[in-house]
Amino acid sequence: MRAQWEIEAEAFVVAAEARLLELSIEASRAAWVYETYITPDTEALTARADARLTSATVDLARRAAEFEGRPLPDSTSRKLRLLRLSLPLLAPPGERESEELARLSASMRGRYAKGRYQPDRAGEALDLNAIGRRMAESRDPVELAALWTGWHSVGVPMRPEFVRYVELANAGSRAVGFADTGAMWRAKYDMPPEEFVAETERLWAEVRPLYRLLHAYVRHRLVERYGESVVPRSGPIPAHLLGNMWAQTWDNLYPLLAPPDADPGVDLTEILRRRKVDPRELVRIAERFFASLGFEPLPATFWERSMFEKPAGREVLCHASAWDIDLVDDLRIKMCIEITGEEFHVVHHELGHNFYQRAYAHQPLLFRDSANDGFHEAVGDTIDLSVTPEYLARTGFLDAVPPPDRDVGLLLRKALEKVAFLPFGLLVDGWRWRVFSGDVPPERYNSTWWEMRLRYQGVAPPTPRSEADFDPGAKAHIPSSTPYMRYFLAAILQFQFHRALARSAGWTGPLHRFSIYGDRAAGARLRSMFEMGASRPWPDALEALTGSRTMDATGILDYFRPLIGWLERETRGVPIGWPGE
Ligand code: ASP
Ligand code: SER
Ligand code: ZN
Repeated sequence: MRAQWEIEAEAFVVAAEARLLELSIEASRAAWVYETYITPDTEALTARADARLTSATVDLARRAAEFEGRPLPDSTSRKLRLLRLSLPLLAPPGERESEELARLSASMRGRYAKGRYQPDRAGEALDLNAIGRRMAESRDPVELAALWTGWHSVGVPMRPEFVRYVELANAGSRAVGFADTGAMWRAKYDMPPEEFVAETERLWAEVRPLYRLLHAYVRHRLVERYGESVVPRSGPIPAHLLGNMWAQTWDNLYPLLAPPDADPGVDLTEILRRRKVDPRELVRIAERFFASLGFEPLPATFWERSMFEKPAGREVLCHASAWDIDLVDDLRIKMCIEITGEEFHVVHHELGHNFYQRAYAHQPLLFRDSANDGFHEAVGDTIDLSVTPEYLARTGFLDAVPPPDRDVGLLLRKALEKVAFLPFGLLVDGWRWRVFSGDVPPERYNSTWWEMRLRYQGVAPPTPRSEADFDPGAKAHIPSSTPYMRYFLAAILQFQFHRALARSAGWTGPLHRFSIYGDRAAGARLRSMFEMGASRPWPDALEALTGSRTMDATGILDYFRPLIGWLERETRGVPIGWPGE
């Protein structure tokens, strides 16, 4: 016979899921309207809906704690645990405080979305997309430094808001039993939080030698281009010269860094523009990839309700995101799509979220999530790794498959995107964890940010920074409270997934030439992992797809093997590393 508390616990979970579903839908709708139409009214409405959801979650999480220590079926105790972890921000005790936190959070998001930089008094004020385009293309260090500094001023007014936000967010996390908000974020990984930290460090240690090699090669080429007065031969790379506002991906520098003997024919930006692909068609292309794996096409509402382009005449938050408003099939993406190779990747990334969300929609609410958040971020990127020359030829974007002996360019471009990202992926939450724990107090927010950017990425700001600045606020995930370690995990996992899919297809060629396009068996493997949602600890999901229960950075090393030898040859006699690492 089932114990009384077991019956009560199950009834509690069912009622909690119903309540949370209702409030989540309301909060998502309000957030959607806010992010696609920013006004003081929509800001107030989203803050209100968030406060309701986060307060209800805290209440329910407290009541869930009453069942702690009693023997319950695995799935019930898993749901009770996930309930406490379901949101990155929880309401602090007190209605006033709860609304204050929600208001601060909406306000910071709004500042980010409305950020502009006006290069000169007569000129037009540039939004982040326009600034990003210039940063990708300009090779003028003076202009680049001005764009960089101009955008970073967006963080300044966020600073006092962020200080208060940290206090309130921590109070919310403490109310459900965590030491602070960072501890709550780290508790999401089905292992003791300290062990998770050690995991991330272990993975970083495995890939760090490759990063240092790439860093050395890029710095050497930038010294040739800009001279030692701009780029120190053995010091950090100036962060404004890497083709991206946060120096988090460097592939926009590819034309500057391309090996002379690389194939020039696989430039996606060029291919897409030549074909006059528009934003909607770009999304169709990505959808067709998923369809080729056996996934159902996206619902009509996706096409009606998504935002693909920046609308005129109103403020929106352009930072790309994927949504599942009703947590069943009201899937959408929100992006200001530009026709570039970079955005082509982002579209695949976002659709990966949507196909994952749809596949686990049959799960009970608290299991409608990925195995861990790194999995959610890895899926679309895994598909994107299959955008190979063979795929482009099969789908008519290339006339012929270029021979593989000139692939060093392809690999370098991928490394500039994926390997360059790793230390940034690690440090954003490395910093936030220390901020939430109080290890880094407000008077050291900015200096610690730059110490960490130096230590992990080996980059330095173009202009002196001080504690009057708040440079973390110039990165979307800080004002939007989106945890970031997930992107580091995803950068590792996608190569592990890709290698596993290649192995199960019997592929023996180089990994960067393997594509799952049209491979229904690969689609079925992915789908069965998606369908598990968060119902099992993530090692089970990883095992289902890859046969392994641990995250493994050797996938990335295997993928880039042919490039590693090339980078070693290119950096012979060139300084490697930097002071302060
Ligand atoms: N593509 C964006 C990024 O990864 C948003 C997302 O995660 O979907 O931040
Ligand atoms: N989409 C994430 C970002 O923009 C990770 O690539 O930072
Ligand atoms: Zn994502």
